[in-house]
Amino acid sequence: MHPTSSPPTPSSATSAASLAHWSEAGRRGMEAFYALATEDYRQLAAARDWAGTFRDLAAGGDRLTLLDVACGSGKFPTALLATPDVAALAGELVVETDLLDPSRFSLDEARGTLAPPFVGAADHECTVEDLVVRPGGWDLVWSTHGLYALAPDVLDAGMARFVEAIAPGGLGVVAQATAASHYLVVDEAFRRSFDPDGVRVPYTAAEEVRVALDALPVTVAEELLTYRTSVAQDDRDTAEGFLQRCVFDDSVSLDQMLADPVVGGYLASCAEDGRWVFDHQVALISVRHA
Ligand SMILES: C[S@@+](CC[C@H](N)C(=O)[O-])C[C@H]1O[C@@H](n2cnc3c(N)ncnc32)[C@H](O)[C@@H]1O
Repeated sequence: MHPTSSPPTPSSATSAASLAHWSEAGRRGMEAFYALATEDYRQLAAARDWAGTFRDLAAGGDRLTLLDVACGSGKFPTALLATPDVAALAGELVVETDLLDPSRFSLDEARGTLAPPFVGAADHECTVEDLVVRPGGWDLVWSTHGLYALAPDVLDAGMARFVEAIAPGGLGVVAQATAASHYLVVDEAFRRSFDPDGVRVPYTAAEEVRVALDALPVTVAEELLTYRTSVAQDDRDTAEGFLQRCVFDDSVSLDQMLADPVVGGYLASCAEDGRWVFDHQVALISVRHA
């Protein structure tokens, strides 16, 4: 089911770069990216008792509704299904899963990953800021590493829709890297050297999401997850694909990045025992109506 029919228009150069890469043409880069970034979702899956959260939200019933905002290729549900506790919910609970993403490719990829207890419901082919919230909302609304391409001028609207989508008594969860984390640091370094005219909008960090949420009538709780991911320096294809995907630009090679004083300087600071080691700090933010 596709409630939103007209494909979304990117609101910024960063948003356009994101949309161009979340496509069939971007599959190779996506696969190199997830050679490392699968860990982001494994960390989130291990960070809380998700099966308990699902049971609480079902409130004694056998189902709950979920809206997966910026669903990407479904790596978070996949990571949850790999945990025994969530896998064991199949047959006990149904998580009726709506997917939201401006990329048709992402919606189709994510849909293909769903397995019980997740059961596919509606697709929303739109940005979160353009979401038309259905009456009653969803019991659980989450966005995991999904809000980086939200430009500052749409962030408030995006988070307002996110909060509006949470049913009364429901739960919102945002997982987003902080400004000190690899994704934001490499984006900043890359833009300084390779986007001197400032066409690209900086990625949105957890701190900015938090400011937008704090202006809304919600209570917010936050915990920080820190972990590292790495790739062997001699696995050049994976390292290059990962880094290009981090900055949504395949036109700059690993050698060019290494030769650049800013990006190369950052990468030099990540070198450890023949590997590139990236430091991550992710805010796991829980949101409830006040
Ligand atoms: C890194 S992926 C998210 C990963 C995903 N949560 C998972 O579990 O695999 C980022 C996704 O955000 C989507 N996106 C970009 N801008 C968006 C916006 N304004 N609103 C909603 N989604 C957006 C992209 O199309 C992409 O599919």
